[in-house]
Amino acid sequence: MHNIVILTGAGISAESGLRTFRADDGLWEEHRVEDVATPEAFARDPALVQRFYDARREQIRAARPNPAHEALARLDREWDGELLIVTQNIDDLHERAGAVRMLHMHGEALSAWCTACDARHGWTGTLGDAPACPSCAAEGDLRPDIVWFGEMPYRMEEIFAALGRADLFVSIGTSGAVYPAAGFVQEAAAHGSRTLELNLERSQGSHLFEETRLGSASELVPRWVDEVLSAQP
Ligand code: APR
Repeated sequence: MHNIVILTGAGISAESGLRTFRADDGLWEEHRVEDVATPEAFARDPALVQRFYDARREQIRAARPNPAHEALARLDREWDGELLIVTQNIDDLHERAGAVRMLHMHGEALSAWCTACDARHGWTGTLGDAPACPSCAAEGDLRPDIVWFGEMPYRMEEIFAALGRADLFVSIGTSGAVYPAAGFVQEAAAHGSRTLELNLERSQGSHLFEETRLGSASELVPRWVDEVLSAQP
């Protein structure tokens, strides 16, 4: 085994205090996802959407990586083969734990995208007060650099290339409800990869994996990383 591709979702950050999307009430922080996470919602009520993501940004800055993020960062450091962590999460907890070989397919809360000049800027403050773009000085054209429903996820070519070479595909803390990420397991398996799911409960995609281990990410992930590293040739 040489190439590992890991997909992470909201479940890996749950123990850092960040809420998952599809909790029991079906709401994300008291909002229906379609009221805050679609281009139509932003066109209809930009102030509401900006306020919502301003609050998410503040929460993320206050959160800390948990043992699951730390274990993946250790795997990234110590695994001699190829490795790619693809996260659906908009938080920066993988990076803060020290992971490097990773990408954000659904964008980043801590990045602002100027729709006037197309520049992207690391952003820790608010956007609801219509700040000027540091590149073109346009005011009110910065939006959260996040892939909303109906928009194209980032870096898909790179992701599919990695899935095509994967020997092991591991999905962590994701409900398997949102495509294209939910289809990665089939893509990897079609190329002969082994497939493993680590999740709190059975997900919509569990039947697609060779093996599913149930439990919290902070327990399952460090144990799995130990296993992989101790078998490293
Ligand atoms: N450890 C492991 N898994 C957990 C934990 C935990 N501590 N807590 C929750 N989970 C699991 C849940 O059981 C659920 O299956 O994590 C999963 C989270 O699922 P979702 O809330 O649907 O999040 P995710 O799969 O990341 O959502 C995908 O949907 O709204 C969009 O763009 C958004 O990236 C997001 C995408």
